[in-house]
Amino acid sequence: MKILWFLTCLFTLSLAQNDPINTRRFPKNLRIGVANAAPQIEGAWNVDGKGETIWDHFAHTYPERIADRSTPDIACRSYEKYKEDVAMVKAMGLYHYRLSIAWSRILPTGYVDNVNQLGVQYYKNLFKELRDNGIVPMVTLYHWDLPQPLQDQMGGWINETIVDIFADYAKLCFELFGDDVKWWITINEPKQVCQSGYGSLYFPPAIEASGTLAYVCSKNVLLAHAKAYHIYDELFREKNQGQIAMVIDATWYEPGSDDPLDIAAAERAQQFDIGIYGNPLFNGDWPQIVKDRVAERSKLEGLSESRLPTLTAFEIDYIKGTSDYLGLNHYSTQLINHTAEFPIGKPSFENDKNVIYWHRDDWTQGSADWFWDVPWGLRKFLVWLKNNYNNPEIVITENGFSDTSGTLEDDNRITYLEGHVSACLDAIYYDNVNLTGYTVWSILDDWEWGGGYTSFLGMYKVDFNDPERPRIKRKSADYFTDVVKRRCLVEESQCVDQ
Ligand code: BGC
Repeated sequence: MKILWFLTCLFTLSLAQNDPINTRRFPKNLRIGVANAAPQIEGAWNVDGKGETIWDHFAHTYPERIADRSTPDIACRSYEKYKEDVAMVKAMGLYHYRLSIAWSRILPTGYVDNVNQLGVQYYKNLFKELRDNGIVPMVTLYHWDLPQPLQDQMGGWINETIVDIFADYAKLCFELFGDDVKWWITINEPKQVCQSGYGSLYFPPAIEASGTLAYVCSKNVLLAHAKAYHIYDELFREKNQGQIAMVIDATWYEPGSDDPLDIAAAERAQQFDIGIYGNPLFNGDWPQIVKDRVAERSKLEGLSESRLPTLTAFEIDYIKGTSDYLGLNHYSTQLINHTAEFPIGKPSFENDKNVIYWHRDDWTQGSADWFWDVPWGLRKFLVWLKNNYNNPEIVITENGFSDTSGTLEDDNRITYLEGHVSACLDAIYYDNVNLTGYTVWSILDDWEWGGGYTSFLGMYKVDFNDPERPRIKRKSADYFTDVVKRRCLVEESQCVDQ
């Protein structure tokens, strides 16, 4: 009994403690940058011919579903102030700037037969500004902002026609901007696009079809990504010498105890959240546990077919190997426990997954009840990705701390960044993870989707009450500038060279 008690204490302690800060100098090939996305910063939602997106439409139609009833109409005014943003990136000494192209700014209807030259010119100017300042662009084609006509006319991502429409848009971007951009991202966070967009009323298109159409969306997103990849590979790679990938988001799920049932539950959660996209991309096909569970529950619901669409042998082959690196957005860790099978009834992604989430009370919380500062979770996650996906090159495309205070003295953000970069160094140096990029979300506060302007992630504050939207430096900006300059987390005298 005493031994059991001792082991339990040891287990709980290990969940609470962070590793010491890594003192090694960053490896030479580790690129450091910042990220943001068009719908969250640009504003100018209907200026110079830009078309309406599903987020514009959603915020205008359902203000009560946005925390502060705000819209992305003006946001940070980056459409006008982009030079100021680039100057901030330069002042921090960063290697890359992750941004997204607003599909409806260059194609207001979503289709390539109607190109908006003013929108094209905006991105050309932005890329020129980056080039002139020696900053490398990392460009996302789709950061959740589907042109509204594509939603109205054909149901967006649940209609397989979207695969060709997205691929046409991607091809146009490669043609227009291929000489400027060597680092492409097709789709940001497919889990949010599908499992939130077709599973929740708080994320457009806000269609409640969790466990059904949401899986159809997952398949179409994978095929659309793969088609864009093949186009790049066949027509542009030789000339432009770039890389192209999908960005997957996931929380690290740590077993809530060393009970094999909890360990299995955490692994199951991982496979549902990241595996639905990672497995087809890196191993081929959906994860087996996902196929088995959705098929089993579909049968019990009286359905003749699984709610999870089949990937044919051709599709499996077409999707597999289409990410030059693994783009990872990671913010938090949660503990997972096993639970009895949820009752059969309305189909749902969470019921298919069937786990219980919790957290430790001594973890520092961010702006949401799933957002915890747990650096060791990132290290474990990187090792999991290495082991499950055959040691891919990994680029962290988003990581950062969100608070609701917006304080300039953002010590919690500094602690978060220090811990997470340290976890990356541990993963690189001690676990041999092939991690080549780390990107902070974000350089400036932005419109946080359903959170509106109530949660803040910027190393620069944006004053959303001032029509000029001034950028104001936070303590974390100075901290991170120093880290980037030193390429080491501790004082110069303590830095250990490689
Ligand atoms: C999204 C960003 C968002 C960030 C912080 C990520 O899931 O890609 O658009 O701002 O989380 O909430």
